[in-house]
Amino acid sequence: MSEKTFALKGDICYSKSPGELRILRRGYVLFRGGLCLGAFDSPPAEFGEITVKDYGDSLIIPGLVDLHTHAPQFVCRAKGLDRELLEWLESTAFPQEARYGELSYAEAAYKHFVADVVNGPNTRMCLFGTLHVPATKALMDMLEESGLVSFVGKVNMDRNAPAYLCESSAGESGDATVAWIKETLGRYRNVSPILTPRFIPSCSEELLGRLGSLQKGYALPVQSHLSENLSEIEWVKQLHPDCSCYGAVYDKYGLLPEGGRTIMAHCVHCPEEELRLLKDRDVFIAHCAQSNVNLSSGLVPLRSYLDRGMKVGLGSDVAGGYTTSILRAMADTIQMSKMYQCCGHPEEKPVTLKEVFHLATAGGGAFFGRVGRFERDYEFDAVVIDDSTYNPLIELSMEERLERAMYLSEGSHIVQKYVRGREIK
Ligand code: GUN
Ligand code: FE
Repeated sequence: MSEKTFALKGDICYSKSPGELRILRRGYVLFRGGLCLGAFDSPPAEFGEITVKDYGDSLIIPGLVDLHTHAPQFVCRAKGLDRELLEWLESTAFPQEARYGELSYAEAAYKHFVADVVNGPNTRMCLFGTLHVPATKALMDMLEESGLVSFVGKVNMDRNAPAYLCESSAGESGDATVAWIKETLGRYRNVSPILTPRFIPSCSEELLGRLGSLQKGYALPVQSHLSENLSEIEWVKQLHPDCSCYGAVYDKYGLLPEGGRTIMAHCVHCPEEELRLLKDRDVFIAHCAQSNVNLSSGLVPLRSYLDRGMKVGLGSDVAGGYTTSILRAMADTIQMSKMYQCCGHPEEKPVTLKEVFHLATAGGGAFFGRVGRFERDYEFDAVVIDDSTYNPLIELSMEERLERAMYLSEGSHIVQKYVRGREIK
């Protein structure tokens, strides 16, 4: 028996390219067995019998992708944000993460995080956990249960961290990572492990070398932070005077594997050489606009990254950011990009609504494969948003409705969400 074919009916909008929206008012997006069959004005006969779910004139868009966030920091979001990155790590992030050494605390806290994301507009995520293996496995179990798709990292950190949140040696950190990989790789349908050195200052050279070997041995993807904040970059220079840029340190230890397997968060202050390295290695940049402001990291030359054809997606970077919603990250990205133009770069045009919608869906989605568009053989992730309550007494185009959903909903008007063809809300 072949699988049933479904259609969602409503006001459909997705990004075909950074400059082009495809819009179907009262259209149909079809899917079968987790895969999309395309979006149509009326259902084509070739697909036979179709079960239609009619969402009236709600907006139907692809699921949004969060390429970078910290699950354990969710419960302490919006705290200590008058500080700069390194100070905030010490005062707020590290003490919070240390609590995940206690499994019962981790389970209670991660429940809040997962519930928030299930109710919001994101369908896929790349997450940092903490250095604790039992807590990270608990997070992976909960995410699998939720139906969301995610990469999750047990964090590695064996130096330059407070004793209460630091692995005792490269050996201990590497061994714990191997045990965690063996337990989680291939275990889940929707959750996969990803290697996660916290950032260069928190990993010894021996640990970076071990992680590089694990990358090769298990062909795992990698995520970390890169060139986020000026004081952090200065610190990396002092720790690795032999490397010509921050990114070159990851590369030296084999942590920028080719083939689109790496995500580097922030990339605020990348020198030319580093950008060339990222492009050469096919690295995804997770652009985290809200966190970059909150932690005094800076404004990103995003237009030039797009012009260079860099791979870019959006990240909420909770708790440098204080909301998980990638709708909010889209709005923050436009605002940041306008500030970049104002602050000394009049020739750099700000990014447009169409462009940020592309980054939030197909841009970040590409890290997961064929994700982020309502086109044939893409995985079927969708968000249905009832925007009627905040659009009274006003005539709007579909593009304007998308814009208002981005600024006004942040995920509070989501009526249904689909991930790989499955209803998850
Ligand atoms: N760099 C190293 N750790 C972190 C973190 O937890 N958040 C952010 N924004 N940057 C980091
Ligand atoms: Fe981060």
